[in-house]
Amino acid sequence: MKPIVIANWKMNEVSSKADDLAEEIATAVSKYIREIDVVICPPYTALEAISEVPGIIKGAQDIHWQDKGTFTGEVSGPMLKDLGCEYVIIGHSERRWKMGENDDIINKKLLAALRNKLIPVLCIGEKAADRQDRRTREVLKQQLESAWRGIGREDCNQIVIAYEPVWAIGSGQIGSKEAATPEIIAEAYNYIKDFILAEELSDKVRLVYGGSVEGDNVNEFFQVQSNEGFLVGGASLEASEFSKIIKKTAQNYD
Ligand code: PGA
Repeated sequence: MKPIVIANWKMNEVSSKADDLAEEIATAVSKYIREIDVVICPPYTALEAISEVPGIIKGAQDIHWQDKGTFTGEVSGPMLKDLGCEYVIIGHSERRWKMGENDDIINKKLLAALRNKLIPVLCIGEKAADRQDRRTREVLKQQLESAWRGIGREDCNQIVIAYEPVWAIGSGQIGSKEAATPEIIAEAYNYIKDFILAEELSDKVRLVYGGSVEGDNVNEFFQVQSNEGFLVGGASLEASEFSKIIKKTAQNYD
């Protein structure tokens, strides 16, 4: 599978500015777009605006678990498909810890994504206190197993699992936090790979890292075995910075 770099714009960029930013990114990385999947997950309101940008794959930042109904303010899988989305982020730590999403909700959202033929980008990661208490393995295992309840190998074509330690996720500004070290990422990937092997998903999963990935530190992560890309927050809002990440990733996997 190709490496993948996913932009998570979070709650940034109004629709009338989003196409310019996506356009700037697409122009800067057009040479690499065949070798690498470049996905942009803007706010829902900007999904339409970035539609015309060539080479960019669209993703959403969330999904509701039902396909339609009385859920004021929510957006469903069929709506995302209709707008041309191919990917959807599920279980981001900001949704888990700021919006109160629990394991049950995340499981239902994963089922909804697969049912609607959207590729889920399932985010998992420990908090600083979990790491201090040496509970990282336990937390990752629990998050994966509960998200996966009721899902079989035959239910998915592709999935992306993003290891995003909560303590490494930036505040929105470049340089606001320290990224995880390659050793920490490799250790987490080993835990995740135990799960992937047990579920016989090796040929269906791409493992990516997220948490303060920037143009200047991205090279460090290439030494992590099994890494197939990145989920990028703050740095994806600056075209030059995000393009640097894509270029370096494409060159590394060449
Ligand atoms: P960051 O965000 O790159 O700003 O740390 C990553 C994420 O939250 O997905």
